Amino acid sequence: MKNTIFIIEYAKGNDKGFDGFRPDTKPILRAIEEETDFETEIVFFKPNKKYQLLEYLKKNAFAVISRINPGNLKQVDEYFQFLKALADSGVEIHTHPDVMINLDFKDILAKLRDSKIGDKESNFYHKFSDFASKFPEDLKKYGIRVLKTNYGSTGEGVYLVRLQDDGSIISTEAVNNEKYYFDDIHEFISKFEKNFEDDNEYAAYFQGKVGFVGCRYLERISEGEIRVLLVNDKPISVVHKKPQDGAFSATLFSGAKYKYENPEDEKWKDVIELTKQGLLDLRPYLQGQNYPLLWTMDYILDYNEDGSDKYILSEINCSCVGITTELHYAKEVAKVFKKKE
Ligand SMILES: Nc1ncnc2c1ncn2[C@@H]1O[C@H](COP(=O)(O)OP(=O)(O)O)[C@@H](O)[C@H]1O
Ligand SMILES: [Mg+2]
Repeated sequence: MKNTIFIIEYAKGNDKGFDGFRPDTKPILRAIEEETDFETEIVFFKPNKKYQLLEYLKKNAFAVISRINPGNLKQVDEYFQFLKALADSGVEIHTHPDVMINLDFKDILAKLRDSKIGDKESNFYHKFSDFASKFPEDLKKYGIRVLKTNYGSTGEGVYLVRLQDDGSIISTEAVNNEKYYFDDIHEFISKFEKNFEDDNEYAAYFQGKVGFVGCRYLERISEGEIRVLLVNDKPISVVHKKPQDGAFSATLFSGAKYKYENPEDEKWKDVIELTKQGLLDLRPYLQGQNYPLLWTMDYILDYNEDGSDKYILSEINCSCVGITTELHYAKEVAKVFKKKE
């Protein structure tokens, strides 16, 4: 029986340690070796050597843990097809590309709009023509909207769009809190067109995936984001990410502060309960696969009608959640492989 668990990385990206690996890769593999009888190995995905890698993994891998941030790889569709081919040959893939394509992209917010974790006022503009015809009305209705590119990360491609009384528009990008000014909605829409890419006709996974998700602006982002970190269907931590004062973005790069807390803590009871319910809402999008290996459900607070706290899902991350600053979670990841011995 094949007895090796692999982590697959991409050589490039800003997520590497001094040795060229993600700093959490070796700790995860070490934990797997400690917790199980599996051997472990690290490989790199190189698009021009993918067939050799495919054969090698088919021959040697019991399971493959994908640790590539899609933002670092141009050929994401090709990579997902590669993972799918491996999965179809019987190798366990964490996280399966059919799951990543559904959960990791922001259009899941529009799909979940009628569920308890979602927000009714979320929508997805797949084509620029949809956007140009619908967004002006949406913005007029709310005065302020958040636009998220379907496959962005770390605040890139997330815009806070505000309509001023004089009809002019201010757009703030979450990645760096930079502001852009537009005389009116027409100027904004026409300058936004460049952000819409065409569908790639050769893509297997990415059909229908280009575009932007429009969300209600949740002003309680000033209180931070609440991140539930999960291993499969088990919440292992709750992280309170607080943006710097006055900033729109709560990403680590923008200077937000992180605090990891125990999910059993009484103060997180509601969000954990909601998350467990959310797991059921997500089930139809798993295509029969398991929940992601190591992933997050991020929430922003809002109010219920009675003034109590309401958590609204703002993002799911499941392609490559880092645990570099909290390496003890490697053990939770390793336990997933324990029962299969
Ligand atoms: N609906 C929203 N209301 C207010 N702020 C938001 C909203 N959605 C996202 N943001 C802000 O934008 C940042 C980036 O958005 P997010 O959905 O987390 O995408 P990503 O982390 O992939 O870039 C968040 O950390 C948060 O500060
Ligand atoms: Mg985020």
